[in-house]
Amino acid sequence: MFEYYNCEWLLPEIMDVVRLFNAQDETFGHHFEYSAGNYFNCIEYGGNFYDYKNTVFTEDEIEFKRYAKRFAKLAFYNLLSNAKGVKMPYGALTGIRPTKLAYMEKEAGRDFKQLFDECGVDSQNTAHVERILQVQKPYYENKGGQDLFVSLPFCPTKCEYCSFITAPISATKKYLDDYVSCVEKELNSIEPILDNIKSIYIGGGTPFAVEERHLGRIYAAINALSLPKCEYTVEAGRPDTFTEEKLKLSKDFGVTRICINPQSFKDETLIKIGRKHTSADIYKAFDMSAKYGFDVNVDLIAGLADETIEDFALSLKKAIELDPANITVHTLSLKAGAKLKENCDRLYVDGIGEMIKLSRQMLTQAGYRPYYMYRQKYQAGGWENCGWAKPEKECVYNIDVMEEIADNVAVGANAISKKLFDGGERLERCASPKDIPTYIQKVDKIIADRNKLFGKD
Ligand SMILES: C[S@@+](CC[C@H](N)C(=O)[O-])C[C@H]1O[C@@H](n2cnc3c(N)ncnc32)[C@H](O)[C@@H]1O
Ligand code: SF4
Repeated sequence: MFEYYNCEWLLPEIMDVVRLFNAQDETFGHHFEYSAGNYFNCIEYGGNFYDYKNTVFTEDEIEFKRYAKRFAKLAFYNLLSNAKGVKMPYGALTGIRPTKLAYMEKEAGRDFKQLFDECGVDSQNTAHVERILQVQKPYYENKGGQDLFVSLPFCPTKCEYCSFITAPISATKKYLDDYVSCVEKELNSIEPILDNIKSIYIGGGTPFAVEERHLGRIYAAINALSLPKCEYTVEAGRPDTFTEEKLKLSKDFGVTRICINPQSFKDETLIKIGRKHTSADIYKAFDMSAKYGFDVNVDLIAGLADETIEDFALSLKKAIELDPANITVHTLSLKAGAKLKENCDRLYVDGIGEMIKLSRQMLTQAGYRPYYMYRQKYQAGGWENCGWAKPEKECVYNIDVMEEIADNVAVGANAISKKLFDGGERLERCASPKDIPTYIQKVDKIIADRNKLFGKD
């Protein structure tokens, strides 16, 4: 694909842009040069040569490399955008969350909108990011502290788009007793490192896929930590896993927020994506939960299995009618390890841009505000995942994790603890094994590593 290049460290950045245009199979040549503040990118493509020059004076090597990457990406973006007659929603921005880049620019005393404009970001999307920053303001000003995450990587079945390391619970339930014992052991060990917990999140997988007795043991171990009263979310998840007992148990242990994730309300789609639940199950889960007064997070995906704009709009309308605190609209993304990837190499979703724009319109009209967003590689049309909430119903955990503005004390398999240093400038992490038997085997080392990260070894 690259017949020649002279600067290897620019290639991963350039490839991110090439992938945006699904041009991985095309042939390019690239020559980069720098001289006295001038960055030259010469690209050979389709038998022609294209020269790009940008000028900026930098003070150190890190800044030089940052600009070199930015200009190389921009050169490829402009070339491919002109050649294919397509503009990407976030232009040449890849590899960094738009909100993070906006905060970085603001902190450097610059107007992020100017940079977004130079990078070819659509002005509506720049305004969207600005709106998110406004909604995040009180949370951002309250940065610091810690969130507690507990991982329950069990699911009823594997959804076709999901890359999550999970096997159907029928195959993994033999580990559950030992798994829960290890999580209890971890939770019992963390008291000395806890300081200013802002939220608790039990995530999956599908935490409600486990039996009541296992869920109850996890809740009890969290309870024993005597944490302050705070947002407490259980990513209960799949509507087919809801029971009265699990909901009551959750309420009794102080859970304040649960996730009921439809993804789509179209039964045909739910079958195609391997969800094994129906739209009736979604309503049933809402009905069952109503009396407990939880805030509810809802996940939808735009671009699923041949869905039209009308199909997506109907799902969104039905989600809004249920009046949850939060609706997150994901754009379908092709992930390594997902079944979807085995059947298709590239994602082409007709009307994906219209779906996202429509979601912004409908959610705004219904009184929701966008409050966190992120983008992933191989996302249909280069779009985004965006969380929307009713005013003051934002999920603190989602903001803290996306913006990396609090430490994360993470417990369980596939959990990544994170600690901020130097006022948030630097982040260190330690990760647990994804595989359940390996996690069980290594739990003592995981505890020791996390204690070390948090300075308690
Ligand atoms: C880690 S998953 C856990 C949610 C929970 N297990 C469930 O399925 O109900 C969080 C969300 O990410 C979204 N998601 C996962 N894989 C995706 C993909 N390939 N493309 C777009 N969204 C995806 C789904 O909306 C999902 O609800
Ligand atoms: S989307 Fe949720 S339920 Fe489906 S496999 Fe992934 S984590 Fe499990």
